[in-house]
Amino acid sequence: PPATISNRTGYHFQSPKNWINDPNGPMYYNGIYHLFYQFNPLAPVWGNIVWAHSYSTDMVNWKPLRHAIYPTKPFDINGCWSGSATILPGNKPVIMYTGIDEQNRQVQNIAFPKNLSDPYLREWVKPDYNPVIKPEGDINSSAFRDPTTAWYGPDSHWKTIIGSRNGRLGMAVLYKSRDFIKWVKADNPLHSAQNAGMWECPDFFPVLPKPMLGVDNSVIRNGLKHVFKVSLDETRYDYYTVGTYDFIHNKYVPNGLSPDNNTGLRFDYGNFYASKTFFDEGKGRRVLWGWSNESDSTQEDWEKGWAGIQTIPRALWLDGNGRQVVQWPIEEVNKLRKKEVGIRRKIVKSGSVIEIKGIEAAQADVEVSFDLSSSLEKAEKFNLSWTDPQKLCGQKGADEKGGIGPFGLFVLATDDREERTAVFFRIFKEGQKHVILMCHDPTKSSKRTGLYKPTYGGFVDYDLSKSGGKLSLRTLIDHSVVESFGAKGRTCITSRIYPNFAVGSNARLFAFNNGAEEVKIIELTAWEMKKPFMNGI
Ligand code: FRU
Repeated sequence: PPATISNRTGYHFQSPKNWINDPNGPMYYNGIYHLFYQFNPLAPVWGNIVWAHSYSTDMVNWKPLRHAIYPTKPFDINGCWSGSATILPGNKPVIMYTGIDEQNRQVQNIAFPKNLSDPYLREWVKPDYNPVIKPEGDINSSAFRDPTTAWYGPDSHWKTIIGSRNGRLGMAVLYKSRDFIKWVKADNPLHSAQNAGMWECPDFFPVLPKPMLGVDNSVIRNGLKHVFKVSLDETRYDYYTVGTYDFIHNKYVPNGLSPDNNTGLRFDYGNFYASKTFFDEGKGRRVLWGWSNESDSTQEDWEKGWAGIQTIPRALWLDGNGRQVVQWPIEEVNKLRKKEVGIRRKIVKSGSVIEIKGIEAAQADVEVSFDLSSSLEKAEKFNLSWTDPQKLCGQKGADEKGGIGPFGLFVLATDDREERTAVFFRIFKEGQKHVILMCHDPTKSSKRTGLYKPTYGGFVDYDLSKSGGKLSLRTLIDHSVVESFGAKGRTCITSRIYPNFAVGSNARLFAFNNGAEEVKIIELTAWEMKKPFMNGI
């Protein structure tokens, strides 16, 4: 088959055909997970946007339902854009979404399940009193969208934020309501930032360190940390800060440990956008969904007939150091693991590769732990001018020899590694501390032309002296997506890649080391992954 067909993912969320973008209104209701998403029913390019709907009992196997929300009324006749679900008292879900109205204005509408006793919540009713929030006053009607899950406060009001901008001031405009129907704009935004441009898809939620994996959005108390995230239309990346919510003045205050702009923290340093979390009451955890767009050409999307996937749902919590979040594929993903191969206590010598044989490596899950304790002293010196990890990964690709590293995995590789995507670390020394750089280098991922192959990178906030020189990596490989979790989920990178030859049973997996120092693999396990039910395919 043409390579474009072999590039279809196996266990990532996607639609049988056509275009998908943002995850919408994820929720858990009476034992069932719902995921809605931005969908074009007619073509594998953006347009004609409706809310497609799928349900699941494990977030791994998905069944499709009829479209939940689609243009029918003056208040959404030109599109049903992104939004969120909130569970109201009495266990009643409500969706708030952005409608594109008759005058092409962005307005906020609500919709309720027609029949709460339908376990799948198949039909959604949009009351005629919509829109419930209109762009009034100084609000720009073409920059006013993507309401968050609402939270309830001690002032007996529901609150939601809506992404916006005023000139280049990014804004999370705050609205309040007693009954979810009549909404009033607060005097000040929950948060705003200069020179940000449009803030799409804001998200705002409380976070706690392990063992608490999450709490409901309405949990508010002194000392509780919050995460505020926006999708920056201008850079096409999601940025977040950790901070506190002053629930008296309704202000979010970032903790100041990371910049509150497009050089700040990211859930994922790769192809990952318009993400949204929800509180999974079933397992008491917060779960993050993100959209990963194609990196091939539009013409290839027409040939494939599909475009866009959702990344593997990730449990998300606050790191013990309080500075950032940690993410890990939800445990249900492990159900897909079948054939297992591995190696233990093996040295990867300078300039060598070790093939991990015995599984179909085009659809796999790999976990590896490295021991760097014997060489940490020999790390190269870090240059303080290296502030941009993505650029650094670009300058120091997988073939650029270093001291400790580059070392890691070659995934979706051919036998001769003429095609391969490198997932790797480099370790530098900065005074008494070490700096860990994590990269995805897809420059050799495909012999095909016309592909977008950016190198991605992030620093890993992890103390190697405390870990005894141990550093871990998990990589989910699924035909055209590589999703990596460094240092147990402290830094994540997702790439879309389209091998021409390293497809199906011809895809190989290697551990590699292009650093001067040898690296020890404590343990490496790779699993071939089953294909779940995925929306009928
Ligand atoms: C983000 C976004 C949202 C909008 C939706 C439209 O990708 O542009 O701001 O609601 O997609 O599909």
